[in-house]
Parts: sequence; structure tokens; C-alpha cells
Amino acid sequence: MGVEPAFTPDVARATEGLYAKVATIIPRVEWAVHAPLIAEINRLKREKNAVILAHNYMTPEIFHCVGDFAGDSLALAREAARTDAKVIVQAGVHFMAETSKILSPEKTVLIPDMRAGCSLASSISGADVRLLKQKYPSLPVVTYVNTSAEVKAESDICCTSGNAVAVVEAIARDFGVDTVIMIPDKYLARNVAAKTGVKVITWEGACEVHERFTAAEIRDYRAAHPGITVLAHPECPPDVVAEADFAGSTAAMIAYVGSHKPRRVVMVTECSMSDNVAAENPDVDFIRPCNLCPHMKRITLEGILHSLRTMTHEVVVDPVVAARARAPIDRMLAVQ
Ligand code: 13P
Ligand code: SF4
Repeated sequence: MGVEPAFTPDVARATEGLYAKVATIIPRVEWAVHAPLIAEINRLKREKNAVILAHNYMTPEIFHCVGDFAGDSLALAREAARTDAKVIVQAGVHFMAETSKILSPEKTVLIPDMRAGCSLASSISGADVRLLKQKYPSLPVVTYVNTSAEVKAESDICCTSGNAVAVVEAIARDFGVDTVIMIPDKYLARNVAAKTGVKVITWEGACEVHERFTAAEIRDYRAAHPGITVLAHPECPPDVVAEADFAGSTAAMIAYVGSHKPRRVVMVTECSMSDNVAAENPDVDFIRPCNLCPHMKRITLEGILHSLRTMTHEVVVDPVVAARARAPIDRMLAVQ
């Protein structure tokens, strides 16, 4: 281990520009704790030719101050395929790191905490998909990226919340069918089915964060804050999505705030999103319901620093599985 970073006048000066990005959401006293870690992480990234791919659910000090590229699952996957860096540090959950490794097998992919899982990814195995395919042999399998490499390896095409409707329609067309198997998120599948003529057979998976939101809760926000704009992630139950003004991926929700500039908004999704978007939209009033993703929150500045110093934890995917899993991801990236 190196010397523990301290908040010296040099660190304060070097990080002042970064603090300006988060000044409205991180108090000065807290910055004294974050800044030395941020300065050391950014130095190590240069030394090791590493990039940090940060999901939109990362806390603001990660998202705004050490992330080289921030986005939704789709954007992070595209960036993993494109980056020239030798090392990718995934500031997100394990399935995202696996996707990066599958798309960039020659790169070292690190995740700061191996326990950063996902209730959707753990809801289904490769064997489950093989059974589904036996039951419906002529139907294509559309697999949400929130799954393990072995599940992707059994699939015809992947999707994210950002492209799910387009992917379902494209694969139904390619297979000449009117029904697809869409796994493992039952809510995303139903929300997609509501937006297309394609019929969807799904699985009993759900996101443990988004399934907790209720339609009554949304009605309460509207009653308490007349005129509020409600944005929801499509992993929410369909009755919640029906109450929203707009539903879309994390990136689509961010874009909505940027382009519509609502006076007051509630983002029906993981807590850190509102903090990150609020930092960039000081004139928008955010009402912040707070459902934390315990997996995303395992990723911390301390963990990222440790990861870069020790080059741990390396994400490894069996090359045979990785090659099979790459085909449905590439097929997804080719849609649109
Ligand atoms: P996005 O692809 O919309 O970023 O969603 C990923 C995720 O895990 C949401 O819970
Ligand atoms: Fe998985 Fe839900 Fe956490 Fe996203 S928010 S990583 S879907 S558990």
C-alpha cells in the first residue's frame, strides 16, 4: 500500500476544478475526505493507462470526479468496445464488468468489489435458458444485459433498457415471428410489450430497487407537488410506468431533464441518479425518493483506489463462454 493520501494545499488546488462540478451537492467539509482519494485515483489512471467507466448510479464524487466516461449500460458497453486504454475499471456492477471483458478480451478489466451483483443477474442461469429454449424452440431469446456471461451465451440478442423495443422488433423481424422470449426482467418485458405489437414471454426476475416503487407513491408525489414531472425507469412495475410522464433508461431520463428543464422533477430510480443530475441542473428542483441499490453502493472511492493500486479484482470470463456471449452483444450493438 502507498502512503495514505492527505488533503494538502497541493491536493486542494489540483482538485478545485473538480469540486466546482459537485459544489452544489457535496459540502466542503466532505470534500476534504474525497479530494485526496480523487487526486490519487486520477494520477494512477494516467500511470497505468486505465479508464474508469462509471454507471449513472455511482455516487457524485465517483460519477463527476474520477469517471472518464459515464452513462447507462448501453453507453458503457459501447465505450468498453471502443476505448484504447489497457485497463478498464468498472465503476458499476459485475455484469457490466463482464460485458466489458467480453467486448475487450485483450484488456484487463477490474471491478473494485466482486460482491457488486444484481438481483436480475442472479435470477437466472444458463441451464434455465436452455430449458426455455427447449420449451419454445422456434422463438428468439432476447436477454437483458443485466445477466451473467453464461446466460448471454445462450441468447440470440441482448438488449438494454435504452434499446429494448428496437431490439425486440428487430429480432422478431429477423426470425419472422410475432413472439419473443425476453429474460429475465418481467417488468421490463411487460413495459416493452406495451410499446410494440410483438408478444413477449418472460421470466420471474425483477430489480430489487425498482420493484419497490408503487403507483400510489407516484400519485402521492403528484398530490404533494402539483405540476411535478415524473420520470421512471422501465424496470419499475407497469402500473408505476403508467403513472409516469416518461419512462426510459438512466441516460434517457438524464437527457429528458437536460432538454425539457422541468421546474420540478422526481426520478423514479436509484438515489444517486438525482444527485448526479442535480449537480448539472441547478435550476431544476429534484424531489428525491431514495431506493438505494446495495450492489452499486459497494463501489467507493476507497475501493477504486485499492483496485488501481493492486490491480484487483480482475474479471475473467471463460474464453469459450465469452466468444458465445459476444455474438448477442454485437448483434445488439448493430441494432439502430
Ligand atoms: P440502464 O441501462 O438504464 O443504465 O440501467 C441499468 C440498471 O442496472 C438499472 O437498474
Ligand atoms: Fe441490478 Fe436493480 Fe441494482 Fe440495477 S438497480 S444493478 S437492476 S439490482
